[in-house]
Amino acid sequence: LRLFSIYLSLIHIIAQEEILSDLIVNRDKCKKDGICVAECPMSYIRLDEQGYPAVDPEFYCLSCGHCVAACPHGAISITGMNAADCPALDKSLDVTPAQAEQFLKSRRSMRQYKTEPVPKAELEKLIDIASYGPSGHNRQPIDWLVINGVDQTRKAAQFVVDWMVKVMQEDPQLGESFGFQKVIKAWDMGQERILRGAPHLFVAHAPKDDPSAPAAAGQVVAYLELAAWSMGLGSCWAGYFTRACQNHPALMDHLALPQGRQVFASVMVGRRKAKYYRLPLRRKPEVTWR
Ligand SMILES: Cc1cc2nc3c(=O)[nH]c(=O)nc-3n(C[C@H](O)[C@H](O)[C@H](O)COP(=O)(O)O)c2cc1C
Repeated sequence: LRLFSIYLSLIHIIAQEEILSDLIVNRDKCKKDGICVAECPMSYIRLDEQGYPAVDPEFYCLSCGHCVAACPHGAISITGMNAADCPALDKSLDVTPAQAEQFLKSRRSMRQYKTEPVPKAELEKLIDIASYGPSGHNRQPIDWLVINGVDQTRKAAQFVVDWMVKVMQEDPQLGESFGFQKVIKAWDMGQERILRGAPHLFVAHAPKDDPSAPAAAGQVVAYLELAAWSMGLGSCWAGYFTRACQNHPALMDHLALPQGRQVFASVMVGRRKAKYYRLPLRRKPEVTWR
């Protein structure tokens, strides 16, 4: 029975790899307009002798779904991405540039949270939206660990403080350059300045050696933060926590992530306690125009 199930999973893997190169064209709907050919970032699609889209085996598919998204006729599907399952865009939900500008500029890093938990459906929505952030070669390498409850985030913060104390003992100059002594002092005075009493912590992890992971983590967190803001939630990068994950094995043991994973970013989430009335100013970047 075991051999049979190994055989079945092998078949599954082989089949999946083969199917990955599949482009499914609905010839009744296809208008032979070549939009999918122009849109494919990998030149994987060409038109065959009859003018229908076909694959070019010289190239390969990123599974980005641009062909599915760009076909006005719903004629293209790829493996695992049926056009009928891909939601149609709702024009009435488009935002104006002015709305987008105020929305993007008004997101703030939130450091005061209500202790009540956010319903799981809302947290799942954040993850869903975050998964639309771009990633190198569409690898989408980020998975999540979500730590729930103020008592649990406080426990995680304790590991960070322990690490900071250790760094201050071993390399005080380094610790001071990151302001660790102030965070430790605040902790001793009962102020939690690491995860800020947030009821949720989203930890973005990926295979250790995935070169696309650092940028992808930045993207998913940016999307997640903006999604949270749009839903009336607050969020904040947990930089100290992420750094501790990368340098303090006891914290990684506590997180118990699958083997070979590294934490690339983490972000606190919860209901907002603070309100904002103005946009703060930002540094004008130096721009070289050529
Ligand atoms: C990589 C990174 C790490 C950060 N780590 C922390 C952190 O550990 N604690 C914190 O309170 N804010 C942290 N922040 C938030 C920044 O302080 C914040 O983005 C900045 O002050 C600008 O404020 P705004 O996000 O409200 O515009 C971090 C931001 C980034 C991008």
